[in-house]
Amino acid sequence: MNMSLLLGVNIDHVATLRQARYARMANSPNAEPCPVTAGHDALLGGADSLTIHVRGDRRHMQDADAFRIRAEVPLPLNFEMGVTDEMVGIALRLKPDFACLVPESREEITTEGGLNVLGSLEKTRSAVVRLQEAGIRVSLFIDPDLRQIDAAASIGADMIELHTGEFANALGGQVDEELARLVAAAKLGHAAGMQVNAGHGINYLNVAQLFAVPHLTELNIGHTIVSRSVRVGLTAAVREMKALLDPYPASA
Ligand code: PXP
Repeated sequence: MNMSLLLGVNIDHVATLRQARYARMANSPNAEPCPVTAGHDALLGGADSLTIHVRGDRRHMQDADAFRIRAEVPLPLNFEMGVTDEMVGIALRLKPDFACLVPESREEITTEGGLNVLGSLEKTRSAVVRLQEAGIRVSLFIDPDLRQIDAAASIGADMIELHTGEFANALGGQVDEELARLVAAAKLGHAAGMQVNAGHGINYLNVAQLFAVPHLTELNIGHTIVSRSVRVGLTAAVREMKALLDPYPASA
């Protein structure tokens, strides 16, 4: 059986482009490009879900974007969020299908490194439980580090998203080392009963290398798809990526 990988499309960078010009006028009728329209375009291209991240500093997605996307785009919504009371509060009102807990610091350009679940067990567990009680399935974005995977399982996470940034930045022989870490992490996460996703730094050229990693359900991909959309449009960019995921082999 050939179970295609699901594609979650992260459209944060559509909002990044809008904010570059309209940071103080995101609600103006002139504010473009529109993340809601991007959500519809991604749907047309075959996206299986949408991911958005309302960051503490609101550098791209705004709260209003999240609520409009939830209301207007008929795709499962993955809400990426820092582990803060503010974001848990927003998630409980937004009611996304999934929440993915990520580390967040103001200085980073994008999400760098996975969540340190081991180092914040009680805080993370409390956020996981509050979200799950509201019917939201919870994922933890973690490095392919077996201790972090055990920690994620120990606090009842439904899913893990393996951080593929190190893999994406690896050169030469390091690529196989990073793939081996991802393989071991995926096996452990699956054996612990969690859904295993992956994301960060995946692009049109490196995605097929991840086929060596078993038990993957969904890849969350943003920057490369939004970049490609400048040339071919978002619907085509999503369709192209979706086609690349087709040959993913079924895991035993
Ligand atoms: N998954 C998570 C948890 C992320 O924070 C991000 C964005 O940094 C992505 C996936 C998408 O990464 P990229 O934009 O590099 O495809």
